[in-house]
Amino acid sequence: MLIAPSILSADFGKLKNEIEAICEAGCDLVHVDVMDGHFVPNLTIGPVVVSAVAKAATKPLDIHLMVENNTFFVELFASLKPKYISFHIEEEKHPHRLIQKIRSYGISPAIALNPHTPISSIEYLLEDLDLVLLMSVNPGFGGQSFIRSSIKKLQELRKKIDASGAKTLIEMDGGINDKNIRELKNAGLDIAVAGNYVFGSGSYKDAIDSLRV
Ligand code: DX5
Ligand code: ZN
Repeated sequence: MLIAPSILSADFGKLKNEIEAICEAGCDLVHVDVMDGHFVPNLTIGPVVVSAVAKAATKPLDIHLMVENNTFFVELFASLKPKYISFHIEEEKHPHRLIQKIRSYGISPAIALNPHTPISSIEYLLEDLDLVLLMSVNPGFGGQSFIRSSIKKLQELRKKIDASGAKTLIEMDGGINDKNIRELKNAGLDIAVAGNYVFGSGSYKDAIDSLRV
């Protein structure tokens, strides 16, 4: 299991230290939640802060866009060379074109699905994606409770990807902790995002290790 702490739950008053600490604690990716106040009822960080995060991080960035104008934000962050950029399928009229654009920058394209969005919405995009991000809470805030139906969806997606022979990874985001991680592993999860669980813990290393099942 790869672990991607979501910095949404970090102490932004000492963001540089927080990023360094999770990287030293052994995370695999730094999950960066970009919200525009339109697609979701919350507003987070833009290019000034994300470039400071990129500078402090010794692990690759995993940028999760929760915005209305995906192309604008992809162009804004491309020069930071994140490993992944994910955009929400619910908010994109031309997902295939945007996937190609992200790949043209040498970045791995990913699509995020809200809890209610069916897997069939990305049926003809799967083979072009490096990663699918399944939301297990409603996007917008850290610290929410895990939505149980996400497990069935994860199992379904795992089956579909395995049957197709594609190499697409599956990431889940929202309400993940040491109580549900084993079940998610068994259902076929590759990357776990965890905000509140990691940053709310006494030891980032212990928290990350406890998720590495
Ligand atoms: C929610 C964000 C998540 C969130 C996860 O919209 O995409 O990345 O920060 O936080 P926890 O793990 O606290 O649910
Ligand atoms: Zn996220």
